[in-house]
Amino acid sequence: MDREEQAKDSFLSLRPSTLKEYIGQKNVINSLSLAIEAAKKRGEALEHCLFYGPPGLGKTTLANIVAKEMNSNIITATGPAIEKVGDIAAILTNLSERDVLFIDEIHRLNRAVEETLYSALEDFKLDIIVGQGPGARTIRIDLPPFTLIGATTRIGLLTSPLRDRFGMVFRLDFYNVEELERIVARSARILDVSISKEALRVIAERSRGTPRIANKLLRRVRDLAQIEDSRTITEDIALRALEMLQIDENGLDYLDKKYMATLIGKFNGGPVGIDTLAASIGEDRGTLEDVVEPFLLQKGYIKRTPKGRVATSHGLKSGIKRYKKSLL
Ligand code: ADE
Repeated sequence: MDREEQAKDSFLSLRPSTLKEYIGQKNVINSLSLAIEAAKKRGEALEHCLFYGPPGLGKTTLANIVAKEMNSNIITATGPAIEKVGDIAAILTNLSERDVLFIDEIHRLNRAVEETLYSALEDFKLDIIVGQGPGARTIRIDLPPFTLIGATTRIGLLTSPLRDRFGMVFRLDFYNVEELERIVARSARILDVSISKEALRVIAERSRGTPRIANKLLRRVRDLAQIEDSRTITEDIALRALEMLQIDENGLDYLDKKYMATLIGKFNGGPVGIDTLAASIGEDRGTLEDVVEPFLLQKGYIKRTPKGRVATSHGLKSGIKRYKKSLL
């Protein structure tokens, strides 16, 4: 792809496609590099890997990188889309040696499908029951050695037999500001826009530690620069664009602020149960647990206690009270 084509295909191309290009998650990258190199030297499939962590931190990107670095094909599926044993059997029997099978939202696989996976993962054998009643029998099909890469935002929802079948389990962390600055600078180069150091920092600081958000904000900021005929994205343009998007200087977005405002304003800072909080905010509990809370926990604004969610003194102090009236 030349630069222009790459810019058009900006959504895909902002993702790094090799380990070398990948910014951040140093420990994960180091362990993966080592395992990939060793597997390649032995001419074997890479062991099964599980990536977990909040959305937007690079789980899908890493799965694609692993396949590319192993010179393997990648077959992509999502947990809820594999409805029947027949679906997973079809996927598994179509794999070639050393292929990567990527299953996103792997915590949402149903029981029967998950159980079919056990022997496939452990022994590369597929056991299928044919027929019904007393005449039913099991047939065993050999599978080529392959690599399963699972991704989930909810490691706690994975059963232990499934979790234990992954040779490598990696937790993805939020990115720091310096890493996000480098990611945004790289994306700006790919999109062929010029951006000041100050504007890079503004975007990086307000991205909730998440590259997907950083890249999204960069596009919005670029739109404003374009409309104003500015050749460079300046700090002033970045600040104004982000203000329009209601993102504050700590990177808290609308839902984060609403969460804090509700916790503080309606429940006196807690403790309050997650279901009560979710009903009060009018948001799905899973979204709060997967998307909102990991960031607020990492910021030190809230704590999870046996009695429920509590705002920390840091959370209470951090100016979040300011948002209270407009958000409740
Ligand atoms: N784009 C999105 N995530 C990235 C990362 N971790 N490194 C480089 N570019 C990225």
